[in-house]
Amino acid sequence: MAQLSSAHGPLVYLRLGAVDAVTTDDPEVIREILLRQDDVFASRPRTLAAVHLAYGCRDVALAPFGSHWKRMRRTCMEHLLTTKQIESFSGHRKIEACHLARDVWRKARDGEPVNLRQFLGNFSMNNVTRMLLGKQYFGPELAGPAEAAEFMHITHELFWLLGLIYLGDYLPLWRWLDPLGREKKIREVEKRMDRFHQKIIEEHREAMARRKEAGDGENKEAMDFVDVLLSLPGEDGKERMDDTEIKALMQDMIAAATDTSAVTNEWAMTEVIKHPGVLRKVQEELDRVVGRDRLVQESDLAHLTYLRCVVRETFRLHPAGPFLIPHESTRATKLMGYDIPAKTRVFINTYALGRNRRVWDDVDAFRPERHLPPEGSGGRVEISHGADFKILPFGAGKRRCPGAPLGVTMVLMALATLFHCFDWSPPEGVRCEEIDTEEVYGMTMPKAKPLMAAARPRLAPNLYD
Ligand code: HEM
Repeated sequence: MAQLSSAHGPLVYLRLGAVDAVTTDDPEVIREILLRQDDVFASRPRTLAAVHLAYGCRDVALAPFGSHWKRMRRTCMEHLLTTKQIESFSGHRKIEACHLARDVWRKARDGEPVNLRQFLGNFSMNNVTRMLLGKQYFGPELAGPAEAAEFMHITHELFWLLGLIYLGDYLPLWRWLDPLGREKKIREVEKRMDRFHQKIIEEHREAMARRKEAGDGENKEAMDFVDVLLSLPGEDGKERMDDTEIKALMQDMIAAATDTSAVTNEWAMTEVIKHPGVLRKVQEELDRVVGRDRLVQESDLAHLTYLRCVVRETFRLHPAGPFLIPHESTRATKLMGYDIPAKTRVFINTYALGRNRRVWDDVDAFRPERHLPPEGSGGRVEISHGADFKILPFGAGKRRCPGAPLGVTMVLMALATLFHCFDWSPPEGVRCEEIDTEEVYGMTMPKAKPLMAAARPRLAPNLYD
């Protein structure tokens, strides 16, 4: 699709079976869709994967525009992703950052190369499961190896299935035949995922009942996301939200928060290790802001201007997903002078936007400096939004990512910790410029091969253990 835009212009019309679709990589067209005509394009298509893997589209991310989506999104914004809630989990994030430093340090001490995909995946998953479920899955306080492996496996399958362009959504005959068994797979993952979520809800209900019996009541400070959801009133005066809605929201939070931040971190590490000059500058800044006598804290992150540019440049070249989640028009409209029918699918190609030669110079170069604010302006480097629509890591408008502040914090915290605690180089025998940047297409777009690297500690040993 990236090639379609560069070959045919900023707005391309496609007919996919019975479905009208448009795709774009142009900031002006994107501004028109996500800002000026935000109310027309704020819906989502009802694909087969969305119906089966998001509880009949009763979640936030895949729900069509309407009152249900509004209520679910408000629940996230007002009860789960408020600044206060996010801050209340900063202690957990600090522990996870310490575990990350300690686990990499043990590998470095034993002279072994570090599989960064594994460490960064665990960091993201543990942060999310601590907030959501009140437990860490990977590490010393394991929920149980079998449960952890199952959880990780289902999440990956879910992402893969949501990222597929399933021909059955466009050609009814294909759906009937299901020659590749995709629909069968979707239904199988749906069942396994539901069993998993139901078990979590039951565990939380039992724990709540035990606390009540012990006279412990509702300790708001100690509540994880699932506890919060179980305590909220439901629709139309119902005393509580129903289980399907709770499971749909849990599913969204896990899917939206884990892979996105882990994939971004792996790309940032890849590009920085590939460019030793960038690594040196990141570390000079960390030494200036944090020093070498303590570990990085969340309060440092706002002052790490150059690292913030590194993250922005990573989002330009490697947005977590190649497209925003598909949007859909709710009614017929005109876009850049063309007639667009109701129910047109809109694929906003953020991957091509970051490499659009009409927008960026020297598109293939990893150059964080391009995002530095003008000298003396004192401007802070914004990662989650920008008025120019030239980079859109979290989308914009009504459907923009409600977890952006949390996502940015998790990304910066992992990167700052790893660059501050260690010097990095490619594994023995590989030159920096030989580190590959091959990617695989999906709902997110990870590096094809996991990033392996050698780490050398830069701080006093007592800071790691
Ligand atoms: C680096 C991390 C993250 C990235 C890059 C990211 C990116 C995105 C993008 C591109 C969208 C689609 C926007 C659109 O379609 O216009 C989105 C939607 C969404 N994200 Fe994130 N996200 C991240 C972290 C999170 C976190 C931590 C949460 C919650 C815990 C979250 C929850 C959601 C939800 C619920 C939606 C759907 C919004 C809607 O349809 O109304 N995301 N995200």
